[in-house]
Amino acid sequence: MTPFPLFGLPGQAAHERVLLATDPATGLKAILAVHSTARGPAFGGCRLWHYDTEADALHDALRLSQGMSLKNALADLPFGGGKAVILKPAGDFDRPALFAAFGRAVQSLQGAYITAEDVGTSTADMRGLQAHTRYVSGIPRDGAFGGDPSPKTAWGVFVAIQAGVRQVLGRASLDGVRVALQGLGAVGWHLAGFLHEAGAKLVVADVDAGKVARAVEQFGATPAPVAEILAADVDVLAPCALGASINEKTVPAIRARLVAGAANNQLATPADGDALQRRGICYLPDYLVNAGGIISVAREYRGEGEEAAVMAEVSRIAERVEELLQRVRAADSTPARVADDWARSKLVKPA
Ligand code: NAI
Repeated sequence: MTPFPLFGLPGQAAHERVLLATDPATGLKAILAVHSTARGPAFGGCRLWHYDTEADALHDALRLSQGMSLKNALADLPFGGGKAVILKPAGDFDRPALFAAFGRAVQSLQGAYITAEDVGTSTADMRGLQAHTRYVSGIPRDGAFGGDPSPKTAWGVFVAIQAGVRQVLGRASLDGVRVALQGLGAVGWHLAGFLHEAGAKLVVADVDAGKVARAVEQFGATPAPVAEILAADVDVLAPCALGASINEKTVPAIRARLVAGAANNQLATPADGDALQRRGICYLPDYLVNAGGIISVAREYRGEGEEAAVMAEVSRIAERVEELLQRVRAADSTPARVADDWARSKLVKPA
């Protein structure tokens, strides 16, 4: 039987705790993975997804929660890394009841894990959780900062692209820079708006043809087939759909010189980051670039949410991109590997 990494992913530090939560009355099956609380309580979103097997769900939870440790550390947040996945029940289900049961599971960890929205969950779900746990963020509150983190994630990706374009392409502005956007969802759409405003020329693809049509109309974007967007003749590629889009099949086809996007876990394997570098393509690690959302929900959670302050903190992603690229030059390594070492060195209590 293939060994399964119950106590951590191969070559990685073990998770501190993993809770398998079930509730027969609502059909809840959830995995709450606390990777590290070295910097503070583990903070990361809750995903509602259909998994083919329970092992797939566990693997996703372990991988994503570890990624949150690195993301939160690199963003200098006083939080550790965690993530929850809820296995989507088959057929119809009572969503509020399911989330109530999930909220009780979050509360049972007594603050070791703080949740927020992620793929498949919404601000409405987070609002519902409030009745069952204190440890939740990403909620629109009357007269206060909070809610959907996607626009802040998009802003972080935008400033990362700006910094990358300066450093890698040697261009001072995005005016006329060609950017391919894979995915025009919550983040991709906002990012398209920011890029368009800055004068970038967009090539876009989404499995939802309606979103593509709207981008053509609103942003003068050029549509591309879903199967061809990664190979578009552009300067920058921004993957904003699902993970693992950069893999051994797609790397040889990429024509952009800079890859920077919102999708989590863009590299199928670390070797794909090496392969990009060999092709002269600079890859800005996803968890550095897409930290705007967690910065937003973390500030909201701490009651420090104020639009201008949050935007200023998210904008600091650009400085980190510059610092990363300096470190890469000094280390003669790849951005993915340097970022990984940098983030791991920060998995300690902040001073
Ligand atoms: P979303 O679900 O709103 O958007 C994803 C979009 O990608 C959808 O429009 C979908 O139709 C499209 N899509 C799916 N498969 C595709 C394909 N093969 N080719 C082209 N388009 C495809 O998700 P959201 O919130 O915009 O997130 C995008 C990515 O960024 C996800 O990987 C997410 O984990 C990551 N992320 C999101 C954050 C946030 O604040 N929403 C924060 C950090 C990471």
